[in-house]
Amino acid sequence: MPPGVRLRVLPSGDGQVDLAREVREGLLRARKSLPCRFFYDAEGSRLFEQICSLPEYYLTRAEDEILARHASRIVAAVPAGAALVELGSGSATKTRRLLAAHVARGGRAAYAMVDISSSVLEDGARALVAEFPGLHVEAVAAEYQDGLALLSAEKRAPWLVLWLGSNVGNLDREQAAAFLGGIRARLAPEDRLLLGVDRRKDRLTLERAYDDAAGVTARFNANLLGRIDRELGGRFGEARFRHVAHYDEHAGRVEMHLESLTDQVVRIEALELEVVFRAGERIHTEDSYKYSDAEAEALATQAGFRLERAFTDGAARFLSVLLAPS
Ligand code: TRP
Repeated sequence: MPPGVRLRVLPSGDGQVDLAREVREGLLRARKSLPCRFFYDAEGSRLFEQICSLPEYYLTRAEDEILARHASRIVAAVPAGAALVELGSGSATKTRRLLAAHVARGGRAAYAMVDISSSVLEDGARALVAEFPGLHVEAVAAEYQDGLALLSAEKRAPWLVLWLGSNVGNLDREQAAAFLGGIRARLAPEDRLLLGVDRRKDRLTLERAYDDAAGVTARFNANLLGRIDRELGGRFGEARFRHVAHYDEHAGRVEMHLESLTDQVVRIEALELEVVFRAGERIHTEDSYKYSDAEAEALATQAGFRLERAFTDGAARFLSVLLAPS
């Protein structure tokens, strides 16, 4: 690690053991599923970076547009002594905008990040200290809750917590409120949470964002099967699946699946398991929930926050809400 960076790996970081158990459980269910937090190994993180610059994937650009325009207003909501604390660290450019604005107003050069993958943290930390001399980085490889618990035990200054990229959308609405409530419980009155949510919009825009013409999202989704092959001796590489992204307008979520193209049996060596698929059968891999403005505000209220400010991009596709403990 370069000077100024401390990386700690908690038991829930880089979790290997869980992969075997959760894959078995997920593939033995009547409605098969795979856990979405396993998307982000080195290959998955590389593919996700590519997704973020796809023409169809407007989310990253829309949020970045908001932060480029409003970063100084956002950091002004916390005292200059505040530290920036980010959940997930796949948002390097956006983080830079906020850090730069915070440092520019004489703010403390302290940044903490929690991510499941230590390699992602290491790359992120290196890039940030190279760009911000004197920056102190606390990197914690762990599940969000565990990482936050550790950081909050050491908390000595106000926090601006960042949870960007519509990552809250990967939880269902109940889980999202419960998870935000957990963050809220660790915050003091002067702390703030900046939350990035994707707005409800027309089906075509949404389905294209999750099923791009170049097929990068399809490869990202299929990387879950690749991981099972690489890490658990699976044979999905010889099987035939296609990526499906469907917008359920009533529920307000894009549902991602891998659909079996034929009747097939896939062996997973390390699990001593043979999984039977019918043609057309789907493995559910992730949901991405979309929020109306009212739904975003209700989410905040339910979790014990009040909406202090809301920012959107020029095309009103994305919403960045600045939340204060209520
Ligand atoms: N948090 C991202 C989102 O919901 C994750 C994501 C983007 C994703 N594209 C995906 C997850 C495709 C699964 C499949 O927008």
